Amino acid sequence: MIADGDESLAMNLRPLFVAGNWKMNLTIPEAERLAAAIVGASPGLPEARLVVAPPFTALSSVREVLRGSSVSLAGQNLYWEEKGAFTGEISAAMLRDVGCQYVIIGHSERRQYFGETDAGVNKKIRAALSHGLSPIVCVGESLDERENGQTIARIMSQIEEGFKNLGAAGFSQTMIAYEPVWAIGTGKTATPAQAEEVHALIREKLAEEYGNSPASCAIILYGGSVKPANAFDLLTEKDIDGFLVGGASLEAASFIEITKEAIRALKVKT
Ligand code: PGA
Repeated sequence: MIADGDESLAMNLRPLFVAGNWKMNLTIPEAERLAAAIVGASPGLPEARLVVAPPFTALSSVREVLRGSSVSLAGQNLYWEEKGAFTGEISAAMLRDVGCQYVIIGHSERRQYFGETDAGVNKKIRAALSHGLSPIVCVGESLDERENGQTIARIMSQIEEGFKNLGAAGFSQTMIAYEPVWAIGTGKTATPAQAEEVHALIREKLAEEYGNSPASCAIILYGGSVKPANAFDLLTEKDIDGFLVGGASLEAASFIEITKEAIRALKVKT
C-alpha cells in the first residue's frame, strides 16, 4: 500500500514495460523469428515486462513461440461487440482465446485512417476489460494541435472521453501510451522534457479522477520514434514508465537494446 503522495516509492513500484507494436508488418515465419529472438534475450532482461503486438494473422503462431517465456502477447485493436455480423473485426474474447493479455486501443493510426473516436475508444476499453484484457490506450496530439497550443486540451479530452465511467478497478488494469502523432514513424522524438511535461500532466489528471495513490501507480508509456539512442534519456524522466515501440521493434536487436537502455535508466532513477 502506497501512502498518498509518496511519489518516489510509487515510482519504484511501477514496473518497466517495453511493448513492440509490429503494426501491419511481418509474415508468420518472420513474426516467429522475431518473437523467438526476443524470447531468447528475455531471461537477461528480468527487470522489464516485454509485450509484443503482432498482426492478427501471426498471433496464434507467436503465442506458441512465447509459451513458457515471460514475454506477453497483445492485440493491436479489437471491436467492442461480443460477436456477430461485423466483417473484418476481432472481438475481445477472440483475443483472449488466442492468448493475448493486452490490447492496444486508440492508436493514432486507427484514429487517423479508420475514423476511431474517443467514444469508440471508451467502448473498446470496456470490452477489453470485461474479457480480462489489459488495454494500452494511446493518446497524443497532432503537429497542428501542438503548434496551436492545444496539446494539453487534446490529451485531457482524449482521457476524459476515453476513460468515461471507467471504475477504479478498470482503471487499475489500464495503461496509457502518450504518443505525439508528429513523432510516430517520423524519426522526430519528443525531447525528454516535452514528453515528461505531458506525462506529468496526465498523471495529475488521473489523480483528480482516481485519487493520488492509483494515479501514482498508473503506468504511462511513451511512444514515437523510440530507439536505442534516445531510450535512456526518455526513461530517466520521472513519469515515463516504459515504451510503446513501432519501427524499432521490428528488429530484435534494436528492441532488445531499447530494453537494456530502459533498464539502465530505471536503475539510475530508483
Ligand atoms: P514508431 O511508432 O516507434 O515507429 O514511431 C510508435 C507507435 O506507433 O506505437
